[in-house]
Amino acid sequence: MKRIIGLLLAAVLVFSLAACGSQTASNDSSVNGSESGVAADESESKTEITQGQDEEAQDEAVPTADEENTSGNKTLIAYFSPANSDTVDAISNATPRVGNISTVEYVAQKIHEQVDADVVKIMPIDPYPTDYDEARDRVHSEADNNERPEFTLDVDVNPEDYDVVFVGYPIWYFQMPTIMNTFFETYDFSGKTIIPFNSHAGSSDGGTYTAISEFEPDATVLDGLPTEGESAAESDESIKEWLSGLGY
Ligand SMILES: Cc1cc2nc3c(=O)[nH]c(=O)nc-3n(C[C@H](O)[C@H](O)[C@H](O)COP(=O)(O)O)c2cc1C
Repeated sequence: MKRIIGLLLAAVLVFSLAACGSQTASNDSSVNGSESGVAADESESKTEITQGQDEEAQDEAVPTADEENTSGNKTLIAYFSPANSDTVDAISNATPRVGNISTVEYVAQKIHEQVDADVVKIMPIDPYPTDYDEARDRVHSEADNNERPEFTLDVDVNPEDYDVVFVGYPIWYFQMPTIMNTFFETYDFSGKTIIPFNSHAGSSDGGTYTAISEFEPDATVLDGLPTEGESAAESDESIKEWLSGLGY
């Protein structure tokens, strides 16, 4: 009798162990097969994404203006526009404006919103006439005779003290206003970075970025931003994209 009871107990024990083992296996397989499997897959793919992001982050780790400034780079935005907010002359009245400012000045302001920089206006010593025909004749003769109109800066800065110089101007008669030639002949930007921007009525940059490189052969002249005067008010996004492409 004792033997029979012993055999029965042993059978119950074997059966319960088998049932328990099969439940553990089934739990394991459901964890492995679904939750844990997904978790493993997710964690693998997260690892991949994280690594990918790290690589991308490294690729895109171009210093921002602030980082450049903290590392010692100084940035200036210098621009010439006879139609700037301080002047009302014939050219101001004949060129497109955004609100009450000229197109070059508008782009300069947009750059300044995104870039930590000082700003300076390049002002003609001899202001342009208030009569349009006279103003046009003068600009024409300055270009024809390759003159060097004198200028002053509205703020007391030395552009050569800066590492990065944004330079803005309109296109006049398919080239830079000759006052810009005076500007580039006055300052030596060797070893510095020049970033041009200009407004126009169809000539785009008119080859002026190449002309700047010729005036400043030892500077790095980056690809500039030409903005059509008539659409300057809608140019905010393209200005942002251009700046972000430059690392700002
Ligand atoms: C005297 C003069 C000559 C110009 N010559 C050209 C030209 O050759 N090509 C062009 O695309 N736009 C030309 N323009 C148009 C200006 O580049 C355009 O209106 C620009 O938006 C003016 O910028 P501002 O408003 O900042 O002065 C000329 C404008 C003036 C007043």
